[in-house]
This record gives sequence, C-alpha cells and structure tokens, in this order.
Amino acid sequence: MNKSINLAVLGLGTVGTGVVNLLKDNTEELARRSGHIINITHVGTRRHRTDIDPAINQSDDLLAIAAADDVDIVIEVIGGTDVAKEVIMHAIRHKKHVVTANKALLAKYGNEIFALADENGVQVRYEAAVAGGIPIIKAIREALAANKIDWLAGIINGTGNFIMTEMQTKNRKFGEVLAEAQALGYAEADPTFDVEGIDAAHKLSLLASIAFGIPIQFDKVYCEGITKVSLQDVVYANELGYNIKHLGLAIRREHGFELRVHPTLIPNTTLLANVHGVKNAVMVDAHPLGQSLYYGDGAGAGATASAVMADVMDLIYVITAATPSDVPHLAFVPEELSDTRILPSDEMTCGYYLRLTVKDELGVLADATRILSDNGINIDAILQRDAHKSGLVPVIILTLPVLEKQMNAAIKQIQQLSCVTEPVVRIRLESLDE
Ligand code: HSE
Repeated sequence: MNKSINLAVLGLGTVGTGVVNLLKDNTEELARRSGHIINITHVGTRRHRTDIDPAINQSDDLLAIAAADDVDIVIEVIGGTDVAKEVIMHAIRHKKHVVTANKALLAKYGNEIFALADENGVQVRYEAAVAGGIPIIKAIREALAANKIDWLAGIINGTGNFIMTEMQTKNRKFGEVLAEAQALGYAEADPTFDVEGIDAAHKLSLLASIAFGIPIQFDKVYCEGITKVSLQDVVYANELGYNIKHLGLAIRREHGFELRVHPTLIPNTTLLANVHGVKNAVMVDAHPLGQSLYYGDGAGAGATASAVMADVMDLIYVITAATPSDVPHLAFVPEELSDTRILPSDEMTCGYYLRLTVKDELGVLADATRILSDNGINIDAILQRDAHKSGLVPVIILTLPVLEKQMNAAIKQIQQLSCVTEPVVRIRLESLDE
C-alpha cells in the first residue's frame, strides 16, 4: 500500500454516519481498489459521539477541520446552504478537494463554488447530490460525453415517489407515508422540499447543466409538487393507460431549454412508470446513443454513502495519479458554457390531462371541446363517467402537446362556462418517445 489518504467527514447525520460505517465495512475492498489506506482523521459534529473510533478527532470547529494539514479530502454532509457554503469555500481556499451531497447548496451557489475550485486547482465532486446511489453525474459527465443530449426525465425524489406509490397501490394517507419516509431517513430536514418539488428542482438544475452545458439556473426551473395530486386523478389516469409520476424534465427545444418539475402522466408501459417506492430513475435521450435508463436507490444512508465514497475514490486517483485527470465540474469547459435561454412556462410544450367537473346538461362537452379546438388544441382521448348523485359529471380529456399559453387561455375560457362548477384540474402529460 502507498500513502494514506485522510478524510474529514463534516456532519454525522444519516449520510455522514453512513459514510463512516461504509468505510469501516469495506476498508479492505476500498484499499485494494485505490491502492491506498483511507483514514478518517476528523469528524465535524456538535455532539460528541461515543460510537466513533477514539482515534478520530471530533470537533465542532468545522473551519479548522476544513483547513487541517492532516486532511486531503473534505466530505461535506452537513446540509443547508449557509455553514456548508462557508466551510466548502474555506476548504477550497486551503486547496482541499471536496465531496458534497448537498444539492440545495450547489443549485444555489454551484457556479460560484466550481469557479473557486477551478481557480484553486481542486475538485468538488457531487455524485451523491443527485439520485443518491445512482451514478448519474458520472454517466452524463463522462460516459455520455460523446453525445448530444436532447432530453432527460427523472424520478429524482425518493420521498415523493415513495408517497405517490403508497397512495396509488395501498390507498394510504399522505401524512402517514411522509412520516414513514422521514423515519427511514429519506426525507429532507424540511420535508416541504420533497413534497413541493424543491429538492427535485435542485437536482434537475444540476442535471440540466451537465446535460446541456449551461450554468446552473435553479431559479428558472418551473416547479410543482405532489401535494395536489388526488386519488381520483390517479385512478382516471390509470384507466386511460397512464401512471402519474413526479418528474424532473430537462428538454432541448429550438429556442431554448425547458426545465420543469411537476406531476406527469406517462404511459404505464414505459420503464419510468414502473419505478416504485423510494427508487429513483433517470432516462436520458441522447444522440447517437438513443435512450438509456439509470435506476436505483435515490436516498438513504447506504445509497448516499456509496456515491460519496465513489467520489472519494475518484479523487484519490486524482491526488495520486502521475498525470491527474480533470473532468470539468459542469461537464463542459467553463468558458464554453452557453447562455441559451431557459424558456418561461408560457413557452413550454407538453400534452395535458384535464378533469372538468360539469353539470349533466346538453351540449356541455361540445362547448368544452369547441374551446379547445378554437385554441388550436388537439384532443387525444375523452373519458366521461356516470353522473354523481349530485348531478355533476367528471369529464377527463387528454390532449396532444400544446404550448402552455394556449392551454392557459383555453382553461380560462372553459372555467367561465356556467356548467363548469369546479376548478379545472390539469396535469401535464409526456409520452417519453424517442
Ligand atoms: N430527500 C431526498 C429524497 C433525499 O427523498 O430523494 C435524497 O436526495
């Protein structure tokens, strides 16, 4: 064995503890793969932990640890965007390589952090920040580097997918399933990040950047969560051959890129529609490869620690190689990042599922479909159910892809029909065709 590689693990929550345990469990295997002995020399923690090897220094002085001489790689798994940013910037200025699982931090400050890392000749690795244990960053940044990526679609929040799956298959209540996801260590510290789509939007902004060669632009991601998806829409979608999944979509269009996160009807025959529970999956449509799918555990201690340690292994090769390799942080060389516009939601294009609740009267359907056709919207399927006891009838309409501004105009007019008694429900629809 050659030289020892020294790690600092900042944060001992689910992920930090997972990293410490992984290193303990797989010490020999990691040493055989890297050719080096990997030690944790420091852990950053507020509470002293008696289950940690006494040879490891425990301290809450994160800045001192990040700059310590006996640290080669700083692993930031504190979470949050304030302290984590300060500590990472400090580590970079002290020429330490960094591994982080912090998608919120990179979505907000990634451009600045990567620029500082480039200036200081160190690398910031972030495989664990997107889709947990699935090596999606490595796949897009390196394995697909010869391709032009047209779009990607991902189930990139395990908590959200777990909740949707339990609701769909077991009819369980939202709050109960969320509590279980929290107990299992899947959910964010603030679970609204999961259920309102913010966590998925953080991750999507990173994926879009490395897929298209654009700066990280979290603030331009259209974001809708799962809290308003009702069981009846899940059932109707199913009758029409679709599953509703919470997707992150990054799409190349002629005039810019669409970045959006929202519940989406997808054909139940597609692989993504069959990704259940806490599992994540990302489908990438690229030229010349075509479609490829990356699937696995997107959250939890083991999956996330696996991705963190894979980054550590890569950095060991960087530190110890005679000729270190250097993959650009955002997959494209910084001076080649493009300023192609991110399209506003009005200019996005997709199919729609509409649910109208109407009075059971003559001509209602004719009025609604006329409005759709007047707005240039092509109907793909209609489903009308029996009237409720109340005399109200649910009408489900699926449309072909249309510009969002056309759909907004049509929904506004439909809503004004006197026979439409409740707000029109709309859920976006994607066929995921090649
Ligand atoms: N809260 C995240 C999820 C954790 O549920 O997917 C992994 O990023």
